[in-house]
Amino acid sequence: MDDRFSLRREVDRGPRFAAAVQSGLGAVRKTIPPQYFYDELGSSLFGAICNLPEYYLTRSEEEILIKRGDEIAAALGPVDRLVELGSGSARKTRHLLDRLAPGGLEYVPIDVDVALLQQVGRDLLHEYRKLSVAAAVCDFRRPSRVLRDIVEKGSRTAVLFLGSTIGNLDRGETVAMLRDLRSVLAAGDPLLVGADLRKSKAILEPAYNDILGVTAAFNLNLLQRINRELGGHFDLRAFAHRAFYDEEAGRIEMHLVSLRDQSVRIDDLATAIDFHEGETIHTENSWKYGDDDIEAMGRESGFDLVRRWTDAAGWFGEFLLVAQ
Ligand code: SAH
Ligand code: AVI
Repeated sequence: MDDRFSLRREVDRGPRFAAAVQSGLGAVRKTIPPQYFYDELGSSLFGAICNLPEYYLTRSEEEILIKRGDEIAAALGPVDRLVELGSGSARKTRHLLDRLAPGGLEYVPIDVDVALLQQVGRDLLHEYRKLSVAAAVCDFRRPSRVLRDIVEKGSRTAVLFLGSTIGNLDRGETVAMLRDLRSVLAAGDPLLVGADLRKSKAILEPAYNDILGVTAAFNLNLLQRINRELGGHFDLRAFAHRAFYDEEAGRIEMHLVSLRDQSVRIDDLATAIDFHEGETIHTENSWKYGDDDIEAMGRESGFDLVRRWTDAAGWFGEFLLVAQ
């Protein structure tokens, strides 16, 4: 099995997390970038989020991949290689692997969670006998850093970006990421993007404020992670989860709100961060898309939209783009 699995590491996580916390919490408007949610506990909590009744995104996308899987696979293939950005548990990817892998395929999962990449890679090799896995720990905002050594000239590569993870990037970041991706693809290579669509606040806000508090735990785990990895002294009871939909912008914003005036030491950074009551750390944006948004960002980055599928409720879209 081992000769069918390889792992590249582009990201050295430790120092980057420290640097991101230092600059994010040192800013006037405090932020921590969302890729740092996904340590071992964070990825487990995200897996639980995907099973929550309120978090319709996973089920809506899965519905499309199950019902329209044959059509989607036919539109993608035949391919030599399937790259997946932010692959996570690859739960939904299996619906496409079932259709694309039987004849032999190289699967290239790209993620920041190395333990998850190793676990998922091992599981998939058991499930798909003709698969090889070339996993990469890499920031998917610059996928060319690993893909330029993996993608061979004259071969055909399909790229997946599922789960509306694209929505955690702002517009400028998305275009920069897609352009970087385009630079390693050949004309005609397909890119399948799963994107959450605009809908009423009444559906969107509960998806990020579930009654069990799993999303709150996912958000607060960022502070726990600073405590664990950087010698932080955050009292998690002194912060609260807040998520709301900004209808005009078309995005969910997630924050951690300080419940009192406080100063929090972070030993490894030799610093203390001051918070006043009500001040927030902005931890995530989750953009929701209108009819033409993905097509417009694709065109700006060297991709044409060729097809689009939605679930029966029209809540989630699967967009097939092709490199120009
Ligand atoms: N594709 C899966 C997982 C989505 S969760 C699904 O649809 O359910 C987002 C995934 O992207 C996580 O596994 C996380 O570790 C990864 N991720 C987040 N930001 C990243 C970044 N900047 N670079 C690489 N991976 C990232
Ligand atoms: C991974 N990403 C698409 C999720 C989202 O919906 O933005 C992350 C998440 N944040 C809170 N719940 C889920």
